[in-house]
Amino acid sequence: MEPSLLEALRVAARVTILTGAGVSAESGVPTFRDRQIGLWERFDAAELATPQAYARDPALVWGWYEWRRAAVLRAQPNLAHRSIAALASKMPAVTLITQNVDDLHERAGSSGLLHLHGRLMRPYCQQCGQPYALCGDVPEIPEGGQRIDPPRCATCGGRVRPGVVWFGEPLPAEEWRSAVLAAQRCDAFFAIGTSAVVQPAASLIGLARRAGAVTVQINPDATAADGVVDYHLQGKAGVILPALLHAWHEILIS
Ligand code: OAD
Repeated sequence: MEPSLLEALRVAARVTILTGAGVSAESGVPTFRDRQIGLWERFDAAELATPQAYARDPALVWGWYEWRRAAVLRAQPNLAHRSIAALASKMPAVTLITQNVDDLHERAGSSGLLHLHGRLMRPYCQQCGQPYALCGDVPEIPEGGQRIDPPRCATCGGRVRPGVVWFGEPLPAEEWRSAVLAAQRCDAFFAIGTSAVVQPAASLIGLARRAGAVTVQINPDATAADGVVDYHLQGKAGVILPALLHAWHEILIS
């Protein structure tokens, strides 16, 4: 770990963390850049995550999200999720912002996080907005996926849709406002497991840097934020984060 980074972290009082699909990769949840399998093989993930795709073929898109939801329900939080929760329990001013629609951060013990892209476990009626109560069971879906007709709303009979933000839709306003403030007001900003290609979430990294924060990226690969961040810790989040936390803790108590 670079001494200059540790020194910057030693004096950092406010920390903001932006996570992406790479944080859940070690839990077995596929990222959006992974090659898709089975029924989904011929589709790009970004093609399925649009209002137009849902309008055209609701059973295809609902089936894809149910397949992802089943993968999340079977998955367990990994060392990256747990390290982030541990950091927040040790430092008072940590804001966690995620682009992930899974609930693995919550299951690792994080609370109050900002879900910029919605939540897989919170579908709602497309017509009246009423939340739709999912049964807690893991949906039984063949490995290669299948088309599933979306359920209907018990109140108005409208079609239920996944509780996620699709391409072309606005982010939840309150979450976005809080995320911008957290980026502008932090001393250290981490972008973990994100390709940093999807806007406006990725713009938070540059925003934090311009506001004076030290910016750190944790990712095994090159990303669109390579030229933006001060430090790139290259490797898997589940390996780098526990080591970083250990070094950070050592320097705080030394
Ligand atoms: P992506 O799927 O675009 O990128 C995942 C990133 O995680 C890549 O940069 C990988 O190199 C990295 N990665 C893979 N394994 C990792 C590991 N073990 N540790 C750390 N990093 C790892 O995911 P996001 O950037 O989150 O939006 O994608 C942003 C948004 O685009 C998603 O929220 C979704 C998507 O299409 C919507 O659906 C609106």
